[in-house]
Amino acid sequence: MIRFESVTKRYPDGTVAVDELSLEIPDRSITVLVGPSGCGKTTSLRMINRMIEPSGGRILLDGTDIADQPVHALRRSMGYVIQHAGLFPHRTVADNIATVPRLLGWDRRRARSRALELMERVGLDPALAKRYPYQLSGGQQQRVGVARALAADPPVLLMDEPFSAVDPIVRKGLQEELLRIQEELGKTIVFVTHDIDEAIRLGDLVAVLRTGGRLAQFAPPDRLLSAPADGFVEDFLGADRGIRRLSFFASSGLELTTAPVVTENAGNAGNAGNGKPADPGGAPYLLVTDAEGRPLGWTDPGRQAPGDRTLIPYGRPFEPGRDSLRTALDCAVLSPIGWAVGVDADGRVVGVASQEAVAAAIRAAHAGHGMVSAEVG
Ligand SMILES: Nc1ncnc2c1ncn2[C@@H]1O[C@H](COP(=O)(O)OP(=O)(O)O)[C@@H](O)[C@H]1O
Ligand SMILES: [Mg+2]
Repeated sequence: MIRFESVTKRYPDGTVAVDELSLEIPDRSITVLVGPSGCGKTTSLRMINRMIEPSGGRILLDGTDIADQPVHALRRSMGYVIQHAGLFPHRTVADNIATVPRLLGWDRRRARSRALELMERVGLDPALAKRYPYQLSGGQQQRVGVARALAADPPVLLMDEPFSAVDPIVRKGLQEELLRIQEELGKTIVFVTHDIDEAIRLGDLVAVLRTGGRLAQFAPPDRLLSAPADGFVEDFLGADRGIRRLSFFASSGLELTTAPVVTENAGNAGNAGNGKPADPGGAPYLLVTDAEGRPLGWTDPGRQAPGDRTLIPYGRPFEPGRDSLRTALDCAVLSPIGWAVGVDADGRVVGVASQEAVAAAIRAAHAGHGMVSAEVG
């Protein structure tokens, strides 16, 4: 655990970059420091590995003041990743990744096999091992930067805006990769960003800093979204807090029905088969699937003429249990008829849900998260 105790950093010119910051960063989780440019994020991060020394307060690592620990031992326990990766331009990808193991005295062979193993871990083709950084895309360079930081298997990873310089699609891929790596390795990650969406996506805990290096709020992301501490945090979070928070609610509690689901050519698809309308069980439409159960589209059970196979598009399906209520709501809203289609991992329909059913699941989730409390007058 990393613990900031009233940490202050005043630069020689008088700038107070960090002001009395107290923070407990739990082990084996991602803690994000987020805030506008110049609010003291980089300064805070660099005090953890003593690239910058605090002017007041102290930082404890597993209960020991880091000021009492030799700097080189401290830094060895902390991988460090920065924007633009900061790779050595004259070294190959493999040699960049193997930098710390080589410094630690590993032989060339072992360091190299470690580099190749890490390339795989961060989603890089091992064929790139002999390339130089300038021969890689920005996203690939960042992956090398992450692999290099992980090379000596440090328990702590410090990341300063590592994905800020790449385009949104590449950034999303890097974020997913980081979450996957974290699931496998369980590092203590301190991640700095100015992007609140990135903070919400990655953080188990998010510290929002305001200009002057003061802590505005420290909370799990769904808590930030539901209960911002003040106007600054609320403004910083931006629009659609309620909708964004739904991504933290599982869709498993959503009630699905299979009543309106019919198989194509089974004689019951609307009135196109035997002329007798199937009963959609309260739904205004029937969802037609192929023989394997994959959705084809909606049909109106009463109104279609015999032989009319026109289907209304079913929109985007969601995977109950895996996708969030935000995704389920999006599916229902995107659907021209207002119903979301739930499918399994193989794309087979497991049931459908109306917008009303999604709304009921949202109310239930809010109640479960203490959003709805009885107010007795
Ligand atoms: N070496 C320095 N000397 C003086 N002021 C600095 C120095 N480094 C950073 N600052 C100032 O400290 C504040 C916080 O900087 P920084 O920690 O880099 O913020 P962030 O990473 O959140 O953008 C800013 O006002 C910045 O200008
Ligand atoms: Mg910075």
